[in-house]
Parts: sequence; C-alpha cells; structure tokens
Amino acid sequence: MSTIGTPLGSATVVAVIGAGTMGAGIARVAAGAGHPVLLFDAVPGAVDRAMAEMRTRLERSVEKGTTSPHEMAAIMGRVTACDDLAQLAPAGFVVEAIVEDLAVKQKVFRRLEAMLGAEAILATNTSSLSVTAIAAGLDDPGRVVGMHFFNPAPVMPLVEVVHGTATRPEVAATTAATAAAWGKTPVECSSTPGFIVNRVARPFYGEALRLLGEGVADAATIDAVVTGAGGFRMGPFALMDLVGLDVNLAVSKSVYAQTFNDPRFAPNVIQQSLVDAGRLGRKTGQGFFSYEEGGVPAPATAATGPVPGPVEVSGELGWADGLVSRLEAGGVVVDRIEASGPGHVTIGGVHLVPTFGATATALAAGEVLGSAEVAVMDLVRDWEFGDRVAIAVADQADPATGDVVAGLLQAAGLHVSIVDDAPGLILMRIVAQLASVAVDAAALGVATPAAIDTAMRLGTNYPAGPIAWAKAIGATTIVTVLDILRGFYGEDRYRAAAALRRAAVGGRAIGEETVA
Ligand code: NAI
Repeated sequence: MSTIGTPLGSATVVAVIGAGTMGAGIARVAAGAGHPVLLFDAVPGAVDRAMAEMRTRLERSVEKGTTSPHEMAAIMGRVTACDDLAQLAPAGFVVEAIVEDLAVKQKVFRRLEAMLGAEAILATNTSSLSVTAIAAGLDDPGRVVGMHFFNPAPVMPLVEVVHGTATRPEVAATTAATAAAWGKTPVECSSTPGFIVNRVARPFYGEALRLLGEGVADAATIDAVVTGAGGFRMGPFALMDLVGLDVNLAVSKSVYAQTFNDPRFAPNVIQQSLVDAGRLGRKTGQGFFSYEEGGVPAPATAATGPVPGPVEVSGELGWADGLVSRLEAGGVVVDRIEASGPGHVTIGGVHLVPTFGATATALAAGEVLGSAEVAVMDLVRDWEFGDRVAIAVADQADPATGDVVAGLLQAAGLHVSIVDDAPGLILMRIVAQLASVAVDAAALGVATPAAIDTAMRLGTNYPAGPIAWAKAIGATTIVTVLDILRGFYGEDRYRAAAALRRAAVGGRAIGEETVA
C-alpha cells in the first residue's frame, strides 16, 4: 500500500473547504508550508472568524518566539478568504473539512469535480465516513483520498492517508509526501471503519468502561494505574472527559455499526447514560469527574504495609522480572529458585503472581501454589519509570495478605492500588485487548504493523505501539490473558487475533515479518 511520492510544489494552490476547528488548522498548516491557500465555508462569517483565530494563534507563536513577525505576515498573506465555491477553481489540491455527513460531502465532491482541473487531488478529512463512499458518485473516484488530521491540526504530528477502494496509488503517494513536506508523519491505511487510530484505540475506553461497570476499581484508580503503571499520558476517563463523552461515544457507535456489531467495539451503557444526562466532560463541567468540585479524586492507594523480610522468586517472572532489581534497590533480599509453573514471588507464606489472566481466587483454589494466600499483580510497562501497580487478592486469602504484598511493592518504590480480583486486572486487560485489535487490523490489511504502531504513538500519545508492546510482553502471555478473559466472561469480545495465536503457538514473530 505504501508508495513514495513527490510532494506537491509549494506553488500548488491548496483549497480548504470548511473553516471550522479542523479546516482553520489545516489552512494554517498548508500556508505555513508555503502554499497559496483558498479558504471557503458555506456559513457567512465563518472564514472571517477562522482568519481572526489564525491571526491570534500566530501572534501567540510570535510572542513565544517560534514564528517570526515576517513569517506570520507571510502566512496570513497566503490565505485568501472565499465566499463562493467557484473561487476554488485554481486549486490543485483540496482538503475538505466540512460537516461529517456523507450526502453533503458527496454533493460537494461532485461540484468540485465539475469545477477543478482533472489533475487536482480531492482529499477529505473525514474521521468516520468511508472514503470509498465519498468518492463513489464521481466520474474519477481515483483522485479522492482521505487526509485525516488530528485535532489540533497544527500541533498533532500524525496524518492518516486513507486509500479508498478506487484511490490511485500515486494520488495517495503524493498526499503522503505532501503531508510529510508539511511537517507531519503520514501513515497509509485502507478505508475501513475508524481507519487506524479510531479503531485500534477503542479498547482503551471500552475495557476501562467495563472495569468501571464491574466495580473492579473507580475511574480515578483506573486512570492512575493506566498512567502510573502503563506510562500513558492520560487515563481513559480523563481523556474521554477532555475529548467529550458525546464525541467519544459517537466514534464508538460508528465503528461498532460499521463493523456489523463486532463485540470488541461495543459501546458502553455507562457512557450513554452520562451523555443522556448531559455530562459530556470538561465542556459541561462534569463527565466521569466533576470539574466544578475540585476535579479528579485521589486514586485508591494502599496504606503503608509492613517492611518486607527476604523473598523467594520461583521460576520465570517474564515481563515482571524488572521487579527483582527494584526490590533489591529497595533493600529487599531476593533469593531465586528454579521452579516450573507460573513464576511468582513468595514473602512470608504469601504468593504474588504477575498476571497472566488467571484471577488470584482461581490460583488459590488450584493445586499449583498449594496455598490460599495468593495475590496477583498487574502489568507494569517500564520497571524504571513505573510508579504504581494494581494488585488483587484471592477471595480465600487472609485479610492481611493485601497488606503484606503492599509492603513488598512499596519497598520497590511503587504506589499500590488494591482492586477487585478480575482476570487480567486493569492494565494487562486493556493492553492485551489493544494488542489483539491492533494485530487483527494488520492481518485484515488496514495498515502495516509499523504504520499501526506509529499511528497509535503519534495520534494518541501511547507510550508504545500496541504491536511492539505485545512483542515485549510475549504473544503467549497476551493470548493466555485473552483466552482466560473469554472463558471467564463467555464473550467473543475477548477472542484473540488469529495472528497473535499463531505467534504464540508456533513462536513466529508478530509484526512486519508475518502479518504485514
Ligand atoms: P466544525 O463544525 O468545527 O467545522 C465545519 C465547518 O464546515 C463549519 O464552519 C461549517 O459551517 C462548514 N460547512 C458545513 N457544511 C459545509 C458545506 N457544505 N460547504 C462548506 N462549508 C460547510 O467541524 P470540525 O470539527 O472542523 O470537523 C470537520 C471535519 O473534520 C469532519 O469531517 C470531522 O469528522 C473531521 N475531523 C474532526 C476532528 C475533530 O477533532 N474535530 C478530527 C479529525 C477530523
């Protein structure tokens, strides 16, 4: 799918249709790259407002010293306000950023085709409509491509270049090269529901909402675990509040409907209820958190536990092995012993098992550990920087078990959140599901694994691409987590991507080599 093109020359006239949030930003990006820009909006006054906004933002950037006054004057001088679509006729490249309505977009594209030169590229910034469908009524649908910017367009580095069924490869290649010339990182993908980012990111919200609904932890604790243990810049609830619950729900519903109700993408009733109540997040002062009453509450954090004595590490800890050096740095004496079965840490008769999906309660009931004093520990992405971890304690365990484990992990410099005993806890469940959806997207030809990982890092600020992350954890562990989730809940939502299972069973690498 990926082809290297030549960017449009800066003399090419760029038309931007729709001078709202996205159009104004895109116009600024194109003018900043040296193109003459024609900016049009159907609503009188909208272009003037966009130009005034552009001026204010550029003035701020001049004050900060990132733009010179000369550059600012040049950029503003390149943008021409238009009040009639016919004025866009000289454009060689169009970016449409109007209302998200298929019929309206199709009509605008038909008018553009009739008006513009045959070589002009028609790009749409749609975030949820099919590029194939937008192009469908044209004489030459091959000239239509998706150019999906992220908000705010001048700041966010990612552009998804979306191939519709008819898009000519050279049209996509020119668009990708032009995005790069505009200072963006383009990733190419096919016109599938949600493209890359809005598809692969769904479990970040969906699993967090499930965890909340099941009472595994409250929203503030889930967010704290996702940021503190996972290295995500924002937790799912704070992010939904920022984006707007209505906007996030609309994307979820759209991807779910367009995948013919794939259960992995099912929207959540908690979110629907909040939207029904008008609690849309920061913009209404209240969403998952209340911003009028002091903002985000403190996460559940275990009180200081007993100072740990020596510990035994039995077997292999896999992704959790970094805990050992953290414990040693915290003055805990660690003795390693060879053992088969799930790797675990034992302290004072209590077994702590890094999660592979099984609940602490199931492990305590089983034969392998031979004890009821069992806790499971959630994923930590980076043992150098992680500062929080979730644990869950078996139903059969003594009430002091949680305190003992908290004391141990606190000695490793971690805040501890004790959460309910659900399979895969919080971070592992979210990451396993993200990885599965990402690997599946690659296998379905949405984009290459590398493009998917790049898109998730740049479009959503993830600390790692989900496919690279899955490789680091190990395909076997991810598949085991998903299989246990699927068995526990009896839902296809947790079916593991076939390519992940193949990697787990046959030891084949997940990534470029196999699923591209
Ligand atoms: P917006 O509502 O801020 O701006 C849309 C503008 O288009 C308005 O000024 C409106 O007057 C104008 N418009 C509507 N119909 C028109 C027509 N027939 N001809 C000319 N102008 C028309 O919307 P926003 O957020 O800028 O979104 C625009 C497009 O970008 C949508 O397709 C949306 O899905 C997509 N998008 C939005 C993102 C966001 O975060 N807001 C992110 C990425 C894509």
